[in-house]
Amino acid sequence: MNGKHLLRMSDLSNADILEILALADKMKFNRQHGLSHRLLEGKTLGMIFTKASTRTRVSFETGMFQLGGHAINLTQADAQFGRGEPIEDTANVLSRYVDGIMIRTFAQQDADDFAKYGSVPVINGLTDFAHPCQILADLMTIREHLSALAGLTVCWIGDGNNVCNSLITGALTCGMYVRAACPEGYDPHPEVLAKASKNPAFALTRDPREAAEGANVVFTDVFTSMGQEAETKKRLADFEGFQVNVKLLSLCAENVMVQHCLPAHRGEEISAEAFSLHAAEIYDEAENRLHAQKAVMALLMGGAD
Ligand code: CP
Ligand code: NVA
Repeated sequence: MNGKHLLRMSDLSNADILEILALADKMKFNRQHGLSHRLLEGKTLGMIFTKASTRTRVSFETGMFQLGGHAINLTQADAQFGRGEPIEDTANVLSRYVDGIMIRTFAQQDADDFAKYGSVPVINGLTDFAHPCQILADLMTIREHLSALAGLTVCWIGDGNNVCNSLITGALTCGMYVRAACPEGYDPHPEVLAKASKNPAFALTRDPREAAEGANVVFTDVFTSMGQEAETKKRLADFEGFQVNVKLLSLCAENVMVQHCLPAHRGEEISAEAFSLHAAEIYDEAENRLHAQKAVMALLMGGAD
């Protein structure tokens, strides 16, 4: 990996992504065969959460443990940054104790500032702008199930949110075709769109059926992300017709995969039937957070074996 941090998907080149996925595959295989990779022996990850989490919290903490290291969970409720201590001081001081920082928060600028003021690698565990660790796990899962990335078509149905932003950037970097279907007013971030629009492999549409036609992988996520709860009712109305269901999936390639970062709202962005038909792929995707993040941490914080 070339960069020092993983703050956004555009930090990674195609070669970086392939390097991470190769190590993640190896770590997954070895773990399934009882072999360990204690690449971060004696090292500590500080984990900052200002939003809820199940997968990110457990996969990072377990990942550090499996790599021979340790993780500390820091939340708003019990750390001084929750009482207004500036990022400059928090990042500077944490860097003197820990070997890496994972941050899940609202503003991308806050994650960027941790990297600016700290001196250890910073990993974005979700901001309003990006969720790069999620997309690494998703790309790993697609490769496992469909044996390729480049040349496949992925489509996004729903909100042009953090996961969508990272999917567009990551999938295009890997040579995939990307179609996003978002209702008006819910487009991906302008910075992501500006770059993607220059790539003929990218298309944005208002019609989920147009996006789904012949797609190899269908992605969706909640209509209301963390921090947007006050808009829930309006969003439910605005996303009418943007549900991933069996009818929509019938337009896709024969062996279509479905990916959902979870948590899911069955009956909203995905029907219960579509979810259960594709649950194995979705749970593999969740599992792969562990393996992909172990690879990222090993490469950024320690070096791979
Ligand atoms: N997909 C994901 O990031 O899940 P959590 O919010 O549970 O961490
Ligand atoms: N888009 C969702 C993803 C949760 C993992 C959110 O930001 O809440």
